[in-house]
Amino acid sequence: MIYANVADYRRAARRFLPRFAYAYLEGGAENEITLRCNRAAFEALAFDARVLRDVSNVDTRTTLAGRPAAWPAVVGPTGINGIFRRRAEEALARAAHAAGLPFALSSASTSLLEDVRGVSDGELWLQLYVQQDRRIAENLMARARDAQFSTLLLTVDTPVLGQRDDYARTGFAMPVRWTPRLIWELVTHPRWLATVGVHGQPRLVNLSRSALLAAGVKDRMGTRTHRMDQGLSWQDLAWLRRHWHGKILVKGVQSAADARLAFRHEVDGVVLSNHGGRQLDGARSPLDLLAETVSEAGAAEVFVDGGVRRGSDIAKAVALGARGVLLGRAPLYGLAAEGEVGASDVLTMLHKELQTCMRLLGSTDLAGLTTELLATHRVSG
Ligand code: GLV
Repeated sequence: MIYANVADYRRAARRFLPRFAYAYLEGGAENEITLRCNRAAFEALAFDARVLRDVSNVDTRTTLAGRPAAWPAVVGPTGINGIFRRRAEEALARAAHAAGLPFALSSASTSLLEDVRGVSDGELWLQLYVQQDRRIAENLMARARDAQFSTLLLTVDTPVLGQRDDYARTGFAMPVRWTPRLIWELVTHPRWLATVGVHGQPRLVNLSRSALLAAGVKDRMGTRTHRMDQGLSWQDLAWLRRHWHGKILVKGVQSAADARLAFRHEVDGVVLSNHGGRQLDGARSPLDLLAETVSEAGAAEVFVDGGVRRGSDIAKAVALGARGVLLGRAPLYGLAAEGEVGASDVLTMLHKELQTCMRLLGSTDLAGLTTELLATHRVSG
């Protein structure tokens, strides 16, 4: 199988995965308007390239949340990765670190954070969902600190899970509901069944361990048995700071007004994100929010995610003032299709595409990527 780009990996992931797993990876909320907007925002941006500049050497190095990174991207947090491959988070961490990037582990991971730390010394971030029983989050943070995670991503766009119609259609549920359709899917995806399915249902071991350690809550179903804390508010940043002394980024900011509030609360950064179009359908593209947000960010770093599929997308985000992008689905396509090798290859491709794009733009470093290189597409007539 020859892979030329991320889209090729996406097609291979679709073939490899049973429908419920692919729908979980690919789907957005409700009518998927926001999912499409995320891509459309990148596609609507055009370049005003500069030529005849010496582009023999291109430098993509940067710092993300204060630590060196080889290029402006983070392998972002995605939950339940164990339905794509076994030991998925360990594979993603190794792939990210081999590429010189941080890996952000979801608290809804199917591997323990200690096991992920065990595979590499690279930069690890922890994504945090806060359950009603705050001791669970407190315990997760303590474990992550002990395992030398550097940065906390507080997800704020998920007081409830967005409505994802495909879950109803495909029967995606934890624990698994055995239906004739599901059995058919397993039989017709023998490679997935032999490498992933036979090992049984992946479990949210990270949350379960903290629930057990901190609150003595028994993990009844291997699923998210604990309710999200819908009372979480800006005031809780003070609570978070008492338990986390590293960097704190607020992930899931969807308006310039909230970005401003986050800066006023002196967070280290924000991730403008609509959760890959999986939460509020109708939310704006993070790319559209960048310009009005970065001007007020001060020392805070602004990241975006949602729809990054090419190195040129990363160049566009950086030109608009983003510190970097978070990659969600793209490395997962690689992981699902070919395991760790595929995830690594996706990262290599994106980095190479970014370098090619910078050369074609006449920009030899990230500081050279500015809005002067950007325009909007116009159909001339
Ligand atoms: C979880 O965060 C999801 O988007 O499914």
